[in-house]
Amino acid sequence: MQLLKIAILASGRGSNAKAILESIKTGALHAEGVVLLSDNPEAEALLMAQDYGVPAILVNRKAHPSREAYEAALLTELNHFDYNVVCLAGYMRVLGEGFLLGVKAPVLNIHPSLLPSFPGLHAQRQALDYGVKVAGCTVHLVDAGLDSGPILLQRAVPVLDDDTEATLSARILKEEHQLYTEALQRFQAGITIQGRTVKASAKE
Ligand code: GRF
Repeated sequence: MQLLKIAILASGRGSNAKAILESIKTGALHAEGVVLLSDNPEAEALLMAQDYGVPAILVNRKAHPSREAYEAALLTELNHFDYNVVCLAGYMRVLGEGFLLGVKAPVLNIHPSLLPSFPGLHAQRQALDYGVKVAGCTVHLVDAGLDSGPILLQRAVPVLDDDTEATLSARILKEEHQLYTEALQRFQAGITIQGRTVKASAKE
């Protein structure tokens, strides 16, 4: 099986990025973390990546006059590395067409809802406000829309009567950490995309 060379984009805490790097460390994923890039100088993910021996690079959004200029700089840094998949892991920006045209491998994202319900920010709060009884998380391929690309894998969790945004988020996050590794294993084994539907590629 081809080695996955994973580039990670993260904006904050970095627990999903850490879960991926931990799966590599334990051998659950036959993969290498080649770089972690962040838009945010405060991102804990930057320090975390260094603990795993992964190059951590800040491309500060605030140091660039426009989204286009920022994304061009991000792409330049990313393309210094040899990667065959990009994982958004708590990356809090929508990627523009310029970036998506220039990136050299598929881009995956993890989102804390059962898409297509509750895209965008505060997905867990949206789920509670709506009153759903089942919530969850999704790993999907990234396109130019907001959390709108074809779905690779999803996991459901119950919503309990006494849930707060914090308790529901914690229940979902626990599943997120497993789901990203499973989605990457599935991606590595080979996928076929038909319209919006992602399936395992037929074995030869
Ligand atoms: C996760 O819930 C992820 O699904 C969402 O933002 C959160 C990031 O958490 N996109 P972390 O930085 O991975 O800990």
